[in-house]
Amino acid sequence: MLKGKIQDALNEQIKIEAESSQIYLAMASWAETEGLGGAAQFLYKHSDEERMHMLKLVQYVNERGGKALIPQLSQPNESYKSLTNLFQTLLNHEVMVSGEINNLVDICLSEKDYTTHNFLQWYVAEQIEEEALARTIMDKLSMIGEDKGGLYLFDRDIESISITVNSEKQ
Ligand code: FEO
Repeated sequence: MLKGKIQDALNEQIKIEAESSQIYLAMASWAETEGLGGAAQFLYKHSDEERMHMLKLVQYVNERGGKALIPQLSQPNESYKSLTNLFQTLLNHEVMVSGEINNLVDICLSEKDYTTHNFLQWYVAEQIEEEALARTIMDKLSMIGEDKGGLYLFDRDIESISITVNSEKQ
């Protein structure tokens, strides 16, 4: 049975993952309307992954005899100044999520909930990968700068960045 404090913290994380999914969905939609089809596909997939992160938490809370709360979500930002601005926002968001996962791990240790601590190790590893991917993308975008040809190639190739990461996970 989950302790109340752990259940509350996991429910907070459910909300963070659900909001991440919404934020990336809105980013995907913006990219699509800007003619950035590759970035849009990458972000749609990323949004789906965040929904999967949320679902894993919902099912874990319920399986442990707790009650998962499906939260109301905030309206995500609907436009960005540039693709660089979008991916910087994404990177900042992932850094925030990593901090929240670390807090959760701390709570599990202080409450001696080693089962949830073990469950969360998947998220710890996932955050390392997500931050690394977002930093790789930002490095590429800063090399490209304002170069339109570079941006065209980036948009074409970003799908293969996501495919590589997904296949590494399997
Ligand atoms: Fe589920 Fe990108 O953190």
